[in-house]
Amino acid sequence: MKDYLKYFSVTYIVFIIILIIMGDIFVSDLPEGAKERIGGLPVAAKDTTVPQGDLPIVKGTLSPPVDVKKYLGPTQDLIDKGKILFTTNCVSCHGNEGKGDGVAGVNLNPKPRNFQDMNGWTNGPAITMMYKTLHEGITNRGMASYSNLSPEDRLDLIMFIRTLNPNFPPVTQVQLDSIDVLYSLAKGVKQPNQIPVIMAMDKILKESMPVDEKVKKIAKTVELNKTDSGAVLFKSISNNLSKALTVLALDSSWINNEKSLVSIIDNNPVQNGFKARASYMLTQKELSAIHAFLKNLFASKGI
Ligand code: HEC
Repeated sequence: MKDYLKYFSVTYIVFIIILIIMGDIFVSDLPEGAKERIGGLPVAAKDTTVPQGDLPIVKGTLSPPVDVKKYLGPTQDLIDKGKILFTTNCVSCHGNEGKGDGVAGVNLNPKPRNFQDMNGWTNGPAITMMYKTLHEGITNRGMASYSNLSPEDRLDLIMFIRTLNPNFPPVTQVQLDSIDVLYSLAKGVKQPNQIPVIMAMDKILKESMPVDEKVKKIAKTVELNKTDSGAVLFKSISNNLSKALTVLALDSSWINNEKSLVSIIDNNPVQNGFKARASYMLTQKELSAIHAFLKNLFASKGI
């Protein structure tokens, strides 16, 4: 009798385990929407280490390796390729000269971006931000994702758009490196195509990427500077100099725009190496001092 009970309990447990496994397989085969409706189950791979609004981890697609260096000084050929892509894919909304006046954009609200105007961008005019726009889209504002275009096509497009206005912030090696790391462009097929920005930053900081070297030098200069009020103030609002400087190296839109500097400092401050509410601690004059100090510093270090 005892033996019989023992077998029964073992079979019972095995049976339950098989049920769970089958249920899991069934749920993971469901289409996305159906999974959401079931709810409660950890099937949607919601990675809690990725902050809200950051890029999700996406597995790589087949794309040939891209050498991002060529985008520091793009050739006319490359820009012409971008122009063809622009005419085919973007003119309908953004217009022939990129003024946001294409026929398909007339009824859109907000209007398609006028590339002749540097104010009020949602993501921003820096190459890193434009790449992000093409990769993810700003779908709630009528700008679709163009992740179907190859990374090279997207960069060519950006190169063409940049010729429409002389006021685009400069493209830097640091930004190209960061795009390379974020979307694994140089590695082509083998790596995941996209990792969250925060992970990329950690990766950049940990691995000795060229970004890291330059940022390290800059961080050292800031650390040692005890006289410039901009340097002293900047230190007072950051809690991780390397991180804060990496963030600034990645989004150069602040270089010619103090307001952009404030919005970068205010966006996820603690994660980005700034103190919470950092910008609120400063007067306009102090902000200007930080801006001037950083601008000179980045220019002198070739970032
Ligand atoms: C169906 C219309 C439509 C098409 C086609 C379209 N866009 Fe847009 N695009 C928009 C709208 C609308 C916005 C404004 C979004 C906003 O202000 O947040 C926008 C904004 C942008 C921005 C600026 C984002 C920012 O930070 O404010 C860029 C860059 C951009 N588009 C690039 C492109 C490129 C490149 C193409 C072609 C591959 C393209 N768009 C095709 C509608 C379109």
